[in-house]
Amino acid sequence: MKNISFLFKYLKYLLSAKTPHGIHSPFVFELVNKVINKKGSYYAYEKIEKLRRKFLISSKEIEVTDFGTGKSGKRIISEIAERSLKNKKYGQLLFRLVNHFKPTTILELGTSLGISTSYLACANPNAKVITIEGCPNISNEAKNNFESLGLKNIETVVGNFDIILSAVLCRLPTADCQLVFFDGNHKKIPTLNYFSQCLEYAHNDSIFVFDDIHWSDEMEEAWEEIKSNPLVTVTIDLFFLGLVFFRKEQAKENFIVRF
Ligand SMILES: C[S@@+](CC[C@H](N)C(=O)[O-])C[C@H]1O[C@@H](n2cnc3c(N)ncnc32)[C@H](O)[C@@H]1O
Repeated sequence: MKNISFLFKYLKYLLSAKTPHGIHSPFVFELVNKVINKKGSYYAYEKIEKLRRKFLISSKEIEVTDFGTGKSGKRIISEIAERSLKNKKYGQLLFRLVNHFKPTTILELGTSLGISTSYLACANPNAKVITIEGCPNISNEAKNNFESLGLKNIETVVGNFDIILSAVLCRLPTADCQLVFFDGNHKKIPTLNYFSQCLEYAHNDSIFVFDDIHWSDEMEEAWEEIKSNPLVTVTIDLFFLGLVFFRKEQAKENFIVRF
């Protein structure tokens, strides 16, 4: 039943999503053409996807703590890779966002094996990427993966977002939280809590990216509240990701864009 309603939501998105021709905001038009729908490949894409392919055939087992249930159990790397990681299309969009906006500080909530982190970090070696993961064994795997890719601009933090996010944010230079990727704990109240904590550090050029905004009714409700926050100006709904901007020079407008 959930699958049918999800499919229905996706069809609704496809019917309402705009192509660049229907977008009148110059900022969003340029973003869609130069970043969101930009074709072509970057050198970094292949090395990250090669790593993903390695995960997908890995039969290695690790002990994992599930933050939904609080239970521990063994999981196979290939299964984590199949179920938890952002796919190539969205990982590469994260890369292009960082490459275009050049944020100096990037914060990720939800490292998993580190595929999205690698895309974020490769796009701007001068940016500092802080990524938080609750499960220590998964975080260790990610750390090894960053080493194998030669990525030196990533700091891994282990802990529950609910407990450590405020301490991580406190360490960031004021008003320097320029790109935040929210990709863990896809529930309404926690998502809104993380959003409001990060909001205190946001400034005009900050970008917040939310994963799976239509994944459940709770996430849709969270997305609606985020869009209606008075500090939020432009939002872009790409169905599997939602982009949030705070640029005061833009009129408040919510876009649904075909991706
Ligand atoms: C969807 S995965 C992240 C995928 C990764 N961003 C990617 O695309 O490559 C979400 C991760 O968040 C972690 N997580 C979920 N809830 C958490 C919480 N409350 N605190 C810390 N980590 C959490 C999970 O352990 C999981 O590894």
